[in-house]
Amino acid sequence: MILAFYSANRGLGAWEPALRQAMPEVELRAAPDLGDLEEIEAALVWRPPPGWLAALPNLKLILSQGAGVDHILTDPLRPRHVPIVRLVDPYMTRSMVEYVTFQVLRLHLKEPEFRRQQQDHVWRQLVPPSARDRRIGILGLGELGAACAAALVALGFDVAGWSRSPKQLPCVTSFAGEAAFDAFLARTDILVCLIPLTAATRGILGRATFDRLPRGASVINAGRGGHLAEADLLAALASGQIAEAVLDVFETEPLPADHAFWDHPRIVVTPHVAALTNPVTAAEAIAANLRRLAAGEDFPDRIDPDAGY
Ligand code: NAP
Ligand code: GLV
Repeated sequence: MILAFYSANRGLGAWEPALRQAMPEVELRAAPDLGDLEEIEAALVWRPPPGWLAALPNLKLILSQGAGVDHILTDPLRPRHVPIVRLVDPYMTRSMVEYVTFQVLRLHLKEPEFRRQQQDHVWRQLVPPSARDRRIGILGLGELGAACAAALVALGFDVAGWSRSPKQLPCVTSFAGEAAFDAFLARTDILVCLIPLTAATRGILGRATFDRLPRGASVINAGRGGHLAEADLLAALASGQIAEAVLDVFETEPLPADHAFWDHPRIVVTPHVAALTNPVTAAEAIAANLRRLAAGEDFPDRIDPDAGY
């Protein structure tokens, strides 16, 4: 089997030894040296240019190099009959759990306020509420959101999540669908965005959402930049409706050097690192999916293009 590789962000680099080790039987061809395009049956991609996938006439499987697939679904020319499989990797899930718990604990323990106090040489003992009185709300209770919810429950937080379908997760209050959105927001002090970017979720972190949170709530966006209405966040921070924001993903990446977020005293910027793909661990999941393709089996992490995730 021949696997074509394309990444808009990085070269083959660490992928090559990882993929060769995980699946020595597969021939790897990195763009632009793809040889005879008719021989290619599978493609492993990150942000392929529009039309790149359509040029592979015998493609049978599209594999995402990341958990999200928005970077593939935005290609209007992508071959609609070819299944798309996202990356589910326990290493990536652990990374997201570490990032989210770290950022929640920072906000919960008032670290941003102590940082500002230190800058001003102010000695003032601010006391956070106990974790059980801090209400965390997670947008998306899928692979990543559910794992983060479990870790936050273990730390003693009052955790709820919002998803399309209701969930039964230990000690996590489940809110499902549009009808439950307001009630979910009304009980959320720290909002964590871990939903996929789809037509239904674009701009979800905007004024209408911020206004429904308790005054002084904080926001962590580790989903996609397209979830955030940037001007609405700046306005909500200026009014005090939102106290702090932690942003890992942005509409334009890299975040432009002159962007207002960089110097904002109440925004923490991280450069899309909440859960980076690790080629070594990802290669195992990719190899398993290529073996399923060879065996004619279905793919457990196949996405639904109509739903967008
Ligand atoms: P997932 O397993 O597919 O879970 C998605 C969750 O979002 C599901 O619970 C789903 O509800 C919910 N959802 C989707 N559309 C919704 C809607 N319209 N209303 C309410 N809930 C909705 O995805 P995942 O693996 O957890 O990844 C989530 C996202 O994280 C990715 O798409 C990617 O954008 C982002 N991500 C970011 C980084 C980073 O480094 N910053 C790394 C990896 C991933 P149901 O369960 O009811 O279907
Ligand atoms: C990263 O953002 C991913 O989707 O894996």
